[in-house]
Amino acid sequence: MKNILVTGAAGFIGSAFARYMVETYPHYNIVVLDKLTYAGNRDNLLSIDDEENYRFERADIADRGAVSRVLQQYDIDTIVNFAAESHVDRSILAPDAFVHTDVVGVYILLDEGKKHGIGRFLQVSTDEVYGDIESGLSVEGDRFLPNSPYAAAKAGGELMVRSYQVTHGMDTVITRGSNTFGPYQYPEKLLPLFITEAIDDRPLPVYGDGKQIRDWLYVEDHVTGIDVALHHGVSGEAYNIAGENTQFNIDVVHAMLDALGKPRSLIRHVPDREGHDRRYAMDASKLRALGWKRQWDWPRALQATVDWYLNNEWWWRKIKTGEYLEYFKRQYAERLASSSASE
Ligand code: NAD
Ligand code: DAU
Repeated sequence: MKNILVTGAAGFIGSAFARYMVETYPHYNIVVLDKLTYAGNRDNLLSIDDEENYRFERADIADRGAVSRVLQQYDIDTIVNFAAESHVDRSILAPDAFVHTDVVGVYILLDEGKKHGIGRFLQVSTDEVYGDIESGLSVEGDRFLPNSPYAAAKAGGELMVRSYQVTHGMDTVITRGSNTFGPYQYPEKLLPLFITEAIDDRPLPVYGDGKQIRDWLYVEDHVTGIDVALHHGVSGEAYNIAGENTQFNIDVVHAMLDALGKPRSLIRHVPDREGHDRRYAMDASKLRALGWKRQWDWPRALQATVDWYLNNEWWWRKIKTGEYLEYFKRQYAERLASSSASE
């Protein structure tokens, strides 16, 4: 690996990966390609803007001409694809962009990558492809049962990757991460939304009974998991990256409020997300066997996250304007109007 294209790296996890790679591997050239959708933000990459081994290109991964030009211009030998529409609620309101980026975009990246004779292609995927699991842990060979348009699109992207591996012999690896949290996460996802709303003493819309279970993974551990899979993953394989930290949503919200020093009276139970999966949980032993080890425990990671939003209002206050407020109204106005307080 020498010249790595990291797509979607103006977003939350991709930017953490780009910052980490630029600093950890000064002998690699890191080229970020990002469309800068509502979720993409150059501020996330400010700390590496002046680094010699980093370049930024604004483009759509589904734009064949642009992808081809960037692959040639930088003599790319490796692709790590984070680019996606990533929010389940938006996929329920408007799924088109999910099919465009998470399926067609992945196909274009693979196809152009094949033409340019790239080496490794790593696709960043999600535990949501396994769907709702009542008990036990998902392992990599389990069948896909995606339930939201987001999860179905991510599963479609994975299947395109598989097909290019089997049919064209491309060197591909897939990672499936669990619910990731930390600094620079767009404030539409549970933790950054609730932390920033709670800072302003606004009501927190918990869907349904709040007894859904997610597996919480700190962003830095997700990034090192991708690094290990990129360097040591076996071609054609998928690897779960689990937080091994499954919790009820309501307990996550309580812990966040305690860390922030805000009262539980901010919680409102609102009508549930349509098709809401109750539980995700994955087994991470396959990735651990390659040498990956989580570094962050839940209390420390949560406190670090809460502190970051407290200390970085410059970052999130300017996001919570314009299109964001339109989305917030569409998603929450009616829900909050028919909400009930937590007991
Ligand atoms: P994000 O929404 O914060 O960032 C997505 C980035 O992709 C943005 O910078 C956006 O501008 C860019 N993008 C979107 N469409 C594009 C296109 N057509 N061309 C180029 N760039 C485009 O997402 P995230 O939370 O950082 O997630 C990154 C990846 O990790 C996604 O593939 C997601 O499915 C996966 N994932 C996320 C989580 C999580 O909990 N956030 C967990 C597991 C896997
Ligand atoms: O599991 C991995 C997935 O985690 C990633 O693939 C997705 O990209 C990422 O967005 C995330 O999906 P979720 O739907 O699990 O994340 P979200 O933060 O939207 O919601 C987490 C849980 O909190 C979920 O059960 C829904 C609930 N929730 C969320 C919001 C935004 C609420 O109760 N109220 C809310 O307002």
